[in-house]
Amino acid sequence: MYAVAIDGPAGAGKSTISREAAKRIGFLYVDTGALYRAVAYDMLENKIDPADAQAVCRRLQGLEISFGYSGGEQQVYRNGENITGRIRTPEVSSAASAVSALTVVRQFLFDQQQAIARENNVIMDGRDIGTTVLPHAQVKIYLTAAVEERARRRFIELQQKGEGASLDEVLKEVQKRDENDMNRAVSPLRRAEDAVLVDTTHLDFQQSVSAVLAVIQEKIGAGIK
Ligand code: DC
Repeated sequence: MYAVAIDGPAGAGKSTISREAAKRIGFLYVDTGALYRAVAYDMLENKIDPADAQAVCRRLQGLEISFGYSGGEQQVYRNGENITGRIRTPEVSSAASAVSALTVVRQFLFDQQQAIARENNVIMDGRDIGTTVLPHAQVKIYLTAAVEERARRRFIELQQKGEGASLDEVLKEVQKRDENDMNRAVSPLRRAEDAVLVDTTHLDFQQSVSAVLAVIQEKIGAGIK
């Protein structure tokens, strides 16, 4: 099996780029952020402080998060219920950042991330895939972009959805998530030593996809169609 690990900060375009690259080479795309978001969603619904390790730990006992595919798109389930459409709100984003700093949550989600890569050729994206989840991945990419550019893209996305945050607010939110993701004690976001850096600050979507495919081709060219 082949594994491509793509890590990087929020808003670098990891998921859209990874999804498209996976389609092009016939690999399964695994969005691990969705699993952290699902845990966060459940905590918010149950009025549990996502930063309270003990309370989160207690709640995890009765919680099953799983994922599957429908029409080629990843779906995420909470105790059997499909919650894919409910995990992309700003509240869930910041709660996901908080729960992802807890060891107990990272352990809770670890096995299923590894299991899917044992049985499929995958492009898996997240924060610690190349460093912790799939340290033996044949291809590791650290996908990033300047923080101002990431905020600008996110701002445009929100405007298109009719949500009215200012560019400055969005920049602050992205900076806060970077800070959380990079400075947490457990599995912080960092570039694996053997990860290839792809900076999309000055690349459009298609150019970013081509840059990622070029790295994959170079590392495992013979393994892909
Ligand atoms: O990629 P995303 O924005 O959907 O991720 C949501 C949160 O989950 C983000 O704050 C970081 C965290 N995360 C993580 O810690 N490890 C991963 N492998 C994926 C996501």
